[in-house]
Amino acid sequence: MNILGINAYHGNASAAIVCDGRLVAAVEEERFNRVKYAAGFPAQAIRYCLHAAGLTLADVDHVGVPRNPWARLGTKLFYAMRMPSFARERAKVLVKFTGVPEALAQAFETDPQNVRARFHRVEHHLAHLASTFFVSPFDTAAVLSADGLGDFASTMWGAGKGNRIDVMGSIAFPHSLGLYYTAVTQYLGFLKFGDEYKVMGLGAYGEPAHLEKFRRIVKTNGRNGNGFRLGLDFFTHHRRGPEMTWSDSGKTPELGPMFSDAMSTLLGPARNPGEPLEQRHRDLAATLQARLEEVLFEILRGLHARTGARAVCLAGGVAFNCVANGKIFDATPFEEVYVQPAAGDAGLAIGAAYHIHHQILGQPRSFVMEHAYWGPEFSKEKVCAAVESSGLARSGFVVAELPEEELARVAAAHIANGKILGWFQGRAEWGPRALGNRSIVADPRRAEMKEILNRRIKHREIFRPFAPSILEEATGEFFEKSYPSPFMTLAYSVRPEKRSIIPAPTHVDGTGRLQTVSRSGNPRYWRLIREFANLTGVPVVLNTSFNDNEPIVCRPEEAIDCFLRTQMDVLVLGNLLITKPLEAS
Ligand SMILES: [Fe+2]
Repeated sequence: MNILGINAYHGNASAAIVCDGRLVAAVEEERFNRVKYAAGFPAQAIRYCLHAAGLTLADVDHVGVPRNPWARLGTKLFYAMRMPSFARERAKVLVKFTGVPEALAQAFETDPQNVRARFHRVEHHLAHLASTFFVSPFDTAAVLSADGLGDFASTMWGAGKGNRIDVMGSIAFPHSLGLYYTAVTQYLGFLKFGDEYKVMGLGAYGEPAHLEKFRRIVKTNGRNGNGFRLGLDFFTHHRRGPEMTWSDSGKTPELGPMFSDAMSTLLGPARNPGEPLEQRHRDLAATLQARLEEVLFEILRGLHARTGARAVCLAGGVAFNCVANGKIFDATPFEEVYVQPAAGDAGLAIGAAYHIHHQILGQPRSFVMEHAYWGPEFSKEKVCAAVESSGLARSGFVVAELPEEELARVAAAHIANGKILGWFQGRAEWGPRALGNRSIVADPRRAEMKEILNRRIKHREIFRPFAPSILEEATGEFFEKSYPSPFMTLAYSVRPEKRSIIPAPTHVDGTGRLQTVSRSGNPRYWRLIREFANLTGVPVVLNTSFNDNEPIVCRPEEAIDCFLRTQMDVLVLGNLLITKPLEAS
């Protein structure tokens, strides 16, 4: 039974293939077309997934698309009458959705008649819930999806048991924690799609000094888990619709403004992009985060009370809030948390596929996503060909092929000596975090490393933190929590006595958005960190994504190009170690 999940005509377009209940491949379209958060139809991602599974389009039995035009039809019609231009935009996207079978056939240059798969429309948040619970290690768990908007809902929760998820409640447009975060992010002068992450990092520099005001922006009734409502005076999306442009695969999605003048009246003048960041902005970012946590934890406590579950599975863009996720253990009775690496809309592809497998076809559970490496990989021959055609050796770069153990030792020594290392191995990561297969790795002990990385390679805002990768078995030694975080979706406090040992990936508030690395999850990366620990006594490296203001590199050619374009010192591609010409190093 082969099930293809497709997130199309929506941000983070992606595809995933599930064969007999087992995830075989999953990838975002942006990794191929090199457009960050690309929307449109993920033709290249689909082609890759089928190729990885050894299938043709004719072998696909079911196709899942995470959008259901019939969901919340009454709410949709109500707003369509109030916001005709928004309704027209949505109608255009829906027309594209009805053409998914044709687009699929076109991508494979075949007649739509030859596509024998059954097509299923899966409601957006049902796909989010399926994307986390059905690949989690839990037989029973509470489930929560929270994002900006999908099928006119922003939040959905319920209980998962075996191969079923029972929905217990949802919150419909215009009330949305995701749009709340986006609107305040825009108010703070960060206007790009995906900038919420920056503001979460900024919040660590401030104090939540404006909570009473923010409790007017997002209101709860104080009864555990009964949800929330936005103070709509402070927003505009309910009047003119959230202006999102994301049907075009060649462009990063764009968002129109979502906050009203009333927000500026309440909080002071909005910051324009490029204006200096003042303490007031940092405090507002901190309060934005603190209020999100208050509301989220209230929902989670209510969900725990109703389900009695020990574990919770999260999905939706809000589930990328690693700062909040890391506090769940203290703020709620939940003892276990699962957030798969593509918690946002890319994850809808696996969610749609697993919803079909379990909820529609009634198949039993048989798969746990224990690692994130579901994307393309490249043979030794292809890597060597890329190195050859790049002319690296002719330009004086030293290219050496080393056995795995020696490679890890030599690479670790370079890191310990302060070199910046590009580390390209195996299958590309699923989701937006580099987790040791498409990573830039550096010495966490050097406080100056953050500034060096930013100046030489990443060109990011200086207030944004870098992340630590730590040997899973050493987590409790360096962090105040030791619950595994293999997908970098949880942030914990670094133990105070360890902060001066790993200053580079320790954020200003003493936290780290850590990746715990197990020997079974990623043996090569584990070995690299182990060798670094043998040399330095520190079982931690700084890990940032292998890219420079672009989607994470996918192919070896892109890794070489990024290595040459930036000022990285050493590049590891599979078993090849590439160092700069002597005079340049
Ligand atoms: Fe979503």
